Amino acid sequence: MERTLVLLKPDAVQRGLVGTILSRFEAKGLSIVGLKMRTFDRSVLEQHYEVHKERPFYPNLVDFMSSGPVVAIALEGKDAITVVRTLVGKTNAREAAPGTIRGDLGMSFSNNLVHASDGEDTAKFELGLWFADAAELSDWTPADLEWRYSVKEELA
Ligand code: CMP
Repeated sequence: MERTLVLLKPDAVQRGLVGTILSRFEAKGLSIVGLKMRTFDRSVLEQHYEVHKERPFYPNLVDFMSSGPVVAIALEGKDAITVVRTLVGKTNAREAAPGTIRGDLGMSFSNNLVHASDGEDTAKFELGLWFADAAELSDWTPADLEWRYSVKEELA
């Protein structure tokens, strides 16, 4: 099983789309292992987006992400990082494919509803940043795990 970090950005909260977006991840078969909502300090966001520090959009991005509540979610599942990126869709929501979260629900490059870790190293770093206290993450096994996956082929 793999874990990944998802952020529901201030636009998702303001537009009342938290439940809609969360339900897509749950319906897919991913398990929520961490969940919290808060207006986060700029310092967390500066660390989170450190990789974009020199990009022209960086100051606006940090302003936007610290402008209101964000929902931080840790999701678990097989190949969760790739599965979540596929569900979320292209960064520019106007170009994202129908059926993806951004493709169905958004119109913006900057206000693109969701952030999702883009690789194993990033997921490890971001989960450590947003869920620094391991007690905020729950280890649990969904009762229907054996129906989400083939026991013989995928859970052996
Ligand atoms: P996210 O997945 O959170 O990662 C970086 C964010 O920067 C991205 O989603 C967009 O919301 C935002 N952004 C704004 N402009 C750009 C751009 N030109 N290229 C990439 N990301 C951008």
